[in-house]
Amino acid sequence: MAQAIEIPYKTYLTEEEMPRYWYNVKAHMKGGHAPFINPQTLKPCTKEDLRNVFCDECIEQELNDTEELIEIPEEIRSFYRMFRPSPLVRAYFLEKELGTPAEIYYKFEGNNTSGSHKLNSAAAQAYYAKKQGLKSITTETGAGQWGTALSMAAAFYGLELKVFMVKTSSEQKPHRREVMRTYGATVTPSPSDTTEAGRKILREFPGTGGSLGCAISEAVETAVKTDNCRYVLGSVLDHVLLHQSVIGQECKAAFDKYGVEPNVIIGCCGGGSNFGGLIAPYMGERLQGKNGIEFIGVEPASCPSLTRGKFAYDYCDSAQITPLAKMYTLGCGFMPSPNHAGGLRYHGMSPVISRLYHDGFIKAVSAEQSKVFDAAVRFAKCEGILPAPESSHAIKAAIDEAEKCKKTGEKKRILFGLTGTGYFDMSAYKQYNDGTMTDYVPTDEDLKKGFASIPNVNIY
Ligand SMILES: Cc1ncc(COP(=O)(O)O)c(C=O)c1O
Repeated sequence: MAQAIEIPYKTYLTEEEMPRYWYNVKAHMKGGHAPFINPQTLKPCTKEDLRNVFCDECIEQELNDTEELIEIPEEIRSFYRMFRPSPLVRAYFLEKELGTPAEIYYKFEGNNTSGSHKLNSAAAQAYYAKKQGLKSITTETGAGQWGTALSMAAAFYGLELKVFMVKTSSEQKPHRREVMRTYGATVTPSPSDTTEAGRKILREFPGTGGSLGCAISEAVETAVKTDNCRYVLGSVLDHVLLHQSVIGQECKAAFDKYGVEPNVIIGCCGGGSNFGGLIAPYMGERLQGKNGIEFIGVEPASCPSLTRGKFAYDYCDSAQITPLAKMYTLGCGFMPSPNHAGGLRYHGMSPVISRLYHDGFIKAVSAEQSKVFDAAVRFAKCEGILPAPESSHAIKAAIDEAEKCKKTGEKKRILFGLTGTGYFDMSAYKQYNDGTMTDYVPTDEDLKKGFASIPNVNIY
């Protein structure tokens, strides 16, 4: 049981204390997770299979299941210095408002222009692309945070960037599109008629607002067909979780200063990168039997890959051109409901998070969006920060945990990831304030349609 201890409202590490290594949790996962499969050969993907899609160094990291610590190049650390270390905040005002005996902490990743944790991996991936001598990179973006982060990193390292932005988001968030363009990126609403994948989806689903899976197909196709260009992904893959491990390591270093550790760690889950990064060093210890921390991933009830999906091999994109990953999935053909306002709309989940969940090391809960926005507004009013809708899923679960403690009298120490700010999400906040926000929870029948798109590949 945690002891009451006087901890400052904000704890910052010094630049010197910023992590020098990324933490690779797979080193403790006994063989990592089931391998990515090449859909043509149905054999595990080799480095060569991935070489024309991803940067070489990212492939090395992706397939590294053994090294616990991977050095962060000094050039990336110096980029990190622009926005890291990020503060660990004790949510004293939220605790007071809830009247809970629990201690609540959040790690705030929204303090950079892109407004989220995504810059941690964007900085690394753009650096590796430049180091490899590439001229350009492509990517997809949903809510827009990833595209914004990558446009900042591409500008910093002098790379061209082409972003395929999910069409509904590009319409709902024209300002985010302009931030990307200001940093020099080209932004194309997806599905578009500039790729074969986009044209096919437009023929099959005329008028569709698009999906992340579809935007990924377009970005991968463009990378493969363009000289000296590679595709860069903002979540799901192991190397992205690896880069995000700076979040968890900074939390650990800050808590270590006070000689305490959290009892519960909560993160929102889209593709799993912030949650994977937040829990990485703690999970590594847990897998070695060194702690008994509870890990909770929170997803939208409208896109419930962990809580209602299947653990199976599936494509990472909807046009079925990427490798197959063994993950919790709603099916690569799953299209989230258009009334779903925030991000977290990906059909699958990181293979690392999926494996850990499957093995019982992680719990998952889902939340309906109106409840998520109730929590967001409550948090904004007492802690001052206007949270991103995605991050607010974690806030909701943290409040639920703290309220449980109120009933039981437990003094748990709850840590959650506040991944970003919601200043570009005002149309969603407007719906909430106008009382027009609705919740959509797919029926089992709805989910069956997505499950039908999961290929029948059960190798590992
Ligand atoms: C602010 C914010 N938090 C969380 C997420 C979820 O992504 P992930 O699960 O990869 O951390 C996103 C995704 O776009 C985001 O923008």
